[in-house]
Amino acid sequence: MNPVKEVNIPSLPLLKRGKVRDIFSLNENLLIVSTDRISAFDWILPDLIPYKGIVLNKIAVFWFDKLKRVIENHFITDDISVLNLEGYEALLDRSMIVKKSNPIPVECIVRGYLAGSGWRDYQKTGKIIDYKLPDGLSEGSKLPEVLFTPTTKAESGHDENIDFHKVENLIGKENARFLKEKSIELYKTAHNFLADKGIIIADTKFEFGKYQDRIILIDEIFTPDSSRFWTADSVAAGAPMDMDKEFVRKYLLTTGWDRNSPPPSLPLDIIKNTSERYKKIYEIITGKKDF
Ligand SMILES: Nc1ncnc2c1ncn2[C@@H]1O[C@H](COP(=O)(O)OP(=O)(O)OP(=O)(O)O)[C@@H](O)[C@H]1O
Ligand SMILES: [Mg+2]
Repeated sequence: MNPVKEVNIPSLPLLKRGKVRDIFSLNENLLIVSTDRISAFDWILPDLIPYKGIVLNKIAVFWFDKLKRVIENHFITDDISVLNLEGYEALLDRSMIVKKSNPIPVECIVRGYLAGSGWRDYQKTGKIIDYKLPDGLSEGSKLPEVLFTPTTKAESGHDENIDFHKVENLIGKENARFLKEKSIELYKTAHNFLADKGIIIADTKFEFGKYQDRIILIDEIFTPDSSRFWTADSVAAGAPMDMDKEFVRKYLLTTGWDRNSPPPSLPLDIIKNTSERYKKIYEIITGKKDF
């Protein structure tokens, strides 16, 4: 199957091309199509990752169903035949119809383990944002408690860490507490589910939106784009194996790329290996072998 770079549907208005998803308007709903684009460090990379969009879409569908008891989410259906679009085989398996919401401009990050920017901060300051951590932790260490470390949601450029008071000021105390509680509950529920399958969710990111009079979960959840997944065996052995986008970030950090100019191409073996990791984590999460 040819990787999908972008999707055009003349009969539907294109609302937005995100870094990864193309979003079309369906009146009060949205059609979200996950392409095979990959982004890292706020850039869209020049290469496509085969099957990536299908994996992202199917993993998100799996979790939206599984976690709907924790909080209402935007998912309506991934059966796009209801739209009667002709000739859009390329959309199959990579599209979902969702409730259109008003996104809340906070990225809700939850961390259970020391990784990524949290690990880099800890090495410099002994803290993650304003949470003081015990001495002697290493990359991959389990944190003493699950942390909520929100950032701004920048339209372009880098998201910035914000403390909880800032979130309260932005969206009100009650909403801020709701986002924090739901984010932590979602993380713990999914973490426990995957722990039984030998996978650790090191950290993850959620977005929420206002829908009618309530706050619902939107965007993508517990995908290898929005989460860090490690095999439990590799963590036990002291060398966490990334089953997600971190594999690509780590490659890019070896290239000397300055992150301020267009990113380099990925070698073929990195593209293949990334595609395999995405397919593998899909199989582990869902228990299905679709590829
Ligand atoms: N139900 C929804 N209602 C309104 N907007 C939504 C909904 N679900 C997701 N979105 C928005 O759709 C966009 C998804 O696009 P995408 O993930 O490709 O872009 P991105 O976030 O810019 O890139 P990246 O995820 O790589 O950082 C996000 O801006 C997200 O806030
Ligand atoms: Mg996104």
